Order: sequence, then structure tokens, then C-alpha cells
Amino acid sequence: MPSLKNAPLHGYDSTMIESTANPDTHVKIVEVGARDGLQNEKAIVPLQHKVQLIDALSGSGLKHIEAGSFVSPKWVPQMADSDEVFKQIARREGVTYSALTPNLKGYEAAKQANVNEVAVFASASEGFSQKNINCSIAESIERFRPLCDEAANDGIPVRAYVSCIFACPYDGKVSISQVVDTCERLLALGCYEISLGDTIGVGTAFDTKRLLNTLTRAIKPSQLAMHFHNTYGQGLANVYASLEAGIRAFDASVAGLGGCPYAKGASGNLATEDLVYLLHAGGLHTGIDLDLLAKAGLAISASLSRQSQSSVALARDA
Ligand code: HMG
Ligand code: MG
Repeated sequence: MPSLKNAPLHGYDSTMIESTANPDTHVKIVEVGARDGLQNEKAIVPLQHKVQLIDALSGSGLKHIEAGSFVSPKWVPQMADSDEVFKQIARREGVTYSALTPNLKGYEAAKQANVNEVAVFASASEGFSQKNINCSIAESIERFRPLCDEAANDGIPVRAYVSCIFACPYDGKVSISQVVDTCERLLALGCYEISLGDTIGVGTAFDTKRLLNTLTRAIKPSQLAMHFHNTYGQGLANVYASLEAGIRAFDASVAGLGGCPYAKGASGNLATEDLVYLLHAGGLHTGIDLDLLAKAGLAISASLSRQSQSSVALARDA
């Protein structure tokens, strides 16, 4: 990480764009609000609101946007219109629009929708794997294998999630060796990046430091991303610990939208606005315009009739 000593206090500079990216000072942000954020909403969010959100997010400079899921509509009804979402968004050049795909059926639907990238999702704990995707960890890897093979043939990159990196709502504490093992199996399938999810948001910076200390001995930091939920308010501290361990990719959700329908207590994801504020203050580049991002977050929060969960957005709006 560059020294934080001389970092500008409010370091955003609109000329910071991805094309000038330096691997040490550029941070990749994967915006998951339209998927991880909305999937947990009880009332069906109108298609137009999803499309407006995604277009506003791409307009803010985000280059990686998870726009939906091709999962069973019986399991996650909120994502049932993902194919329409992909049809209606205004695709911006240079933006990767991705989707979750749990199996070959989901992959075929995602390909049909012309996604730029897909993501498979496994768990480091057996209990969450069963509840979330109705199979064991080993079975999930076997489901992903033909998907990854087909995606490789089609030239579609596959990202992978590993949920419950610290604890599972069903099994309790998760060991570091379970996380390492699941990551290695996913990398062996050809996934180019593993997003490590603290699904129920219980981990602290100390846990992150311990996990990454071990994990980065086996896996390069450039193949890892961190996905923090802010349930216990630890998101930004966890990001800082990850930056110190050499991680330069983070998932976040505008306005702190989010949760997982199969993990009670998985409240909001870390808010993208709060993450960007921290990174820019540290002289790290994201290519994102914080004002436009905050505006997108306030708009979706208003349409959901609730307050944004981003402290930064609320402070700037006051
Ligand atoms: P299953 O019931 O075991 O599947 O569900 P199945 O193969 O027996 O099929 C049952 C029915 O689902 C069949 O339809 C299939 O056609 C259909 P029926 O004959 O009954 O009419 N089906 C599908 N339909 C649409 N798209 C598909 C699909 N696959 C089967 N892709 C399955 C297994 C994986 C499908 C199910 O468990 C599922 O969809 N789970 C998704 C759960 C989910 O999306 N959870 C939230 C995302 S994970 C998360 O949020 C964590 C993360 O953010 C990281 C973190 O925070 O840690 C990523
Ligand atoms: Mg999540």
C-alpha cells in the first residue's frame, strides 16, 4: 500500500481513471448492490428501478457491476427478471456486467442474456452450502466444473465467491484451512478471482489479518477480492487490514443495500460510497465519482422508501 502519510484528506480527483491504473494504487471495486443488495428485498423491486440503478452506477465510473442472478426463481424471486434487466440496461463501453450462475442452466441463461462475466458461488461451510444451493461443497464444485469448461470455451471469465469465511449461521466458526481448501478447488476449475465473503459480517480486522496471512502464502493477492457485510460495523476496518495484506479488489453495495436470503443476520454489504471515501483518502484510485455514486445510492434508497446505509452519503447529503 502506498504510504498514507501524505495522502490527501479528501483525495478524490475526477481525472483518476482506470486507464492510468497502477496495480499498486488502483483498486478494483465490484458493485454488487443490484444483486446482493436487492436479492433480499421482500417486495419485488420494479424492473425500471433496477435498470435505473445500474445505469446510474455505470454513470458514476464503476467498471464492474453485478447486475443480477440466474438462479432458481423459486429460491430467489427477486432476481427472476435478470434477463430483462440485462436487455434494458444501457451498456457502457469498458464496463463488465456480470451475474451469479449456480449451475449450467444458469450459465446458459446468462450467456443468452449476453453477460460479460459470470460468478459461481461456493461456501467454506457445509451448512451454508446446503441451505444456499442445496448441495455439499464437493457437489457444488462438481456442478461448477462443466460450467467453467463451457465458459472457457466461450471466452467468458468466471469469478468465484466463497461464503462464510469466518463463521457460518448454521455451523458456527469456520477454520482457515476450510477457506484455503475451497479457494484452491475453485482456482483449479479456472476461476480467475476468488471473492472471500464474510456473509454474516461478524469478522474483525484481526480475523482478516489472520486469514490473509495464511491464504496469501498459497494464493496470490491479485487473485483475491474481499466481500464484507457490515452487520457488526467492521467493514472498513476489514478493508484496511486487507489493503495492508496487498488486496486490491473489493465488493461493495451502493447505499449499503443487501443481505443474503439464506443467512439470517447478513444485513447490508459494506456501502460502496464509504469504501470509495476511504480509498481516495488513502491516495488509491478507483475511477469513481463519489458524488454521482452517492446520488445513485440516495435514489435507490428513496425508491425503496428507506434511508441509505452509507454514512458518507448521509453526511454529504446533510
Ligand atoms: P435445486 O432445487 O436443488 O435444483 O436448487 P434442481 O436442479 O433440483 O432444480 C429444481 C428446479 O429449479 C427445477 O425447476 C430447475 O429447472 C430449476 P422445476 O422442474 O422444479 O420447475 N432450476 C433453475 N431455474 C432457473 N435458473 C437456474 C436453475 N437451476 C435449477 N439456474 C439451485 C439448486 C442452485 C438452483 C438453487 O438452490 C438456487 O437457485 N439457489 C440460489 C440461492 C441464491 O441465489 N442465494 C443468494 C446468492 S449467494 C450470496 O448472496 C452470497 C454472496 O453474496 C457472497 C457472500 O456474501 O458470502 C455471493
Ligand atoms: Mg454477499
